[in-house]
Amino acid sequence: MPDEPLVIRDPAAMTAASRAARARGQRVGLVPTMGALHAGHLSLVDYARANSDLLVVSVFVNPMQFNNQGDLDNYPVTWEADFALCAQHRVDVIYAPTVDAMYPEGFQSKVLVEGLTQEMEGEFRPGHFDGVTTVVLKLFAAVRPDMAAFGQKDYQQLKVVERMSQDLDLGVKVIGRPTVREPDGLALSSRNVHLSPDERQRALCLRRALDQARELAAGGETEVAAIEAAAGEVIAQTEGARLDYLAVVHPDSLERLQRLQGPSRMCLAVWLGDTRLIDNDALN
Ligand code: PAJ
Repeated sequence: MPDEPLVIRDPAAMTAASRAARARGQRVGLVPTMGALHAGHLSLVDYARANSDLLVVSVFVNPMQFNNQGDLDNYPVTWEADFALCAQHRVDVIYAPTVDAMYPEGFQSKVLVEGLTQEMEGEFRPGHFDGVTTVVLKLFAAVRPDMAAFGQKDYQQLKVVERMSQDLDLGVKVIGRPTVREPDGLALSSRNVHLSPDERQRALCLRRALDQARELAAGGETEVAAIEAAAGEVIAQTEGARLDYLAVVHPDSLERLQRLQGPSRMCLAVWLGDTRLIDNDALN
């Protein structure tokens, strides 16, 4: 049996453990999560395990980034399974602060990244990214990692966190890792458990819309309007699916493109019943 992960709940204790590791010459790696761990999270954990000495996984369901109380209340919590998975994947520390430790009475600060947060998720989930950047900065401050791994599944989040780390001289190397999918193409997500069997089947429309766009791009289509229309049609043709947005953007600036010339990324958000799913992929 590998050693069990140490569970730390207090931010100051987390900082002390990290400082001690660094004093021993160890590299500190962090994988921030909201728990309900699945193979997508674990791919980040395995990457960080191979690239750090003290590996910290944070588990904190961050109230500040939920713009809908129902979504927060329904967010799956699977502490025991998460702990066992962290043990299996040789995590050293699970940093799981309480809400009170993170947001004590009187808390009134937040981190705002501007341009990158305006469109897509930012438009449909007002305030969401302020909650993400604030909590990620707090996690970075408590853990003081050399490196932190994030999934491309949440592509806009990845770009926003990269920007913050650079702009604020946080000195954390932010690594983006590929999206892990089910064999049929559905991106793993903690929210997939809310899908009924029917909705689970229909959820493949996200992957199919991305494939449609990739095929057009590979075939030489350069008009983004035509690509977005064809991909949007895949969603429109799926019973019970409702599109929030679908956008072909520059992979770094996240600005909407008119024509495919250099690199590009298509991002979309789709409702299936009461469950909101997001996905994205490179078009070329
Ligand atoms: P959460 O949704 O738990 O995701 C934690 C990390 O796992 C994120 O970096 C996310 O992009 C990554 N991830 C999720 N599904 C993935 C998949 N199918 N393949 C690869 N990586 C995947 O994202 C958050 O939590 C929060 O916003 C957080 C950054 C922890 C701040 O609260």
